[in-house]
Amino acid sequence: MSDLFDFDEGQTPLTDEERRGLKPAFITFRHELNAAEQANILAASVTLRKRAQRLGAADLADEAFICNAHKAMYADVWRWAGSYRTTDRNIGVEAHVIRVQMRLFTDDARLWINEGVFPPDELAVRFHHRLVAIHPFPNGNGRLSRMMGDLLVESLGRGKFTWGANSLTEPGATRSAYIRALQAADRHDITSLLQFARS
Ligand SMILES: Nc1ncnc2c1ncn2[C@@H]1O[C@H](COP(=O)(O)OP(=O)(O)OP(=O)(O)O)[C@@H](O)[C@H]1O
Ligand SMILES: [Mg+2]
Repeated sequence: MSDLFDFDEGQTPLTDEERRGLKPAFITFRHELNAAEQANILAASVTLRKRAQRLGAADLADEAFICNAHKAMYADVWRWAGSYRTTDRNIGVEAHVIRVQMRLFTDDARLWINEGVFPPDELAVRFHHRLVAIHPFPNGNGRLSRMMGDLLVESLGRGKFTWGANSLTEPGATRSAYIRALQAADRHDITSLLQFARS
């Protein structure tokens, strides 16, 4: 993972494994990959916001919406954009239970929304945590889940989150605080993640 690399990380050529499924032939270095992903995500954020505004909050808690959001964010870069992973990771559920876990998660989330089980911030942060804990896609789960948290909280009438305000994609204090808060949420303590999302 990224913390194995030093500050020249951007100059590191991608490994063959990392290049698998990559669409643009010109990408060799990590900084090129990061830039391509960022451009794709920026364009997608406009499309997704418009899409979300036409729907109700409960419609976002939907497998098709989530897969399409992942696709919109990464389809310029990765062939597998929008498709669930088929191999296990050290984070997330086993690959063969992704479908059933996504079904359970989105069913729960729709109920939270329709019944107003949690206040908007808490609901969207719990949604973010459940989605990233399943880790349904081969990569891009963190950025997808933060995007989904933002779209959901906006749909519930609040401003989008700040997620620590600093870049979360590089190792550092903000990233560490975020990971610690996710781990606390794994232990059913959502308060740090709730605070972090508005910090
Ligand atoms: N130890 C951990 N415990 C729980 N969740 C974690 C842990 N490490 C990472 N995560 C979550 O997984 C995400 C990384 O997964 P993935 O690489 O699929 O997403 P990404 O969008 O590429 O990541 P990034 O956050 O680096 O942009 C992190 O953003 C975080 O949400
Ligand atoms: Mg990643």
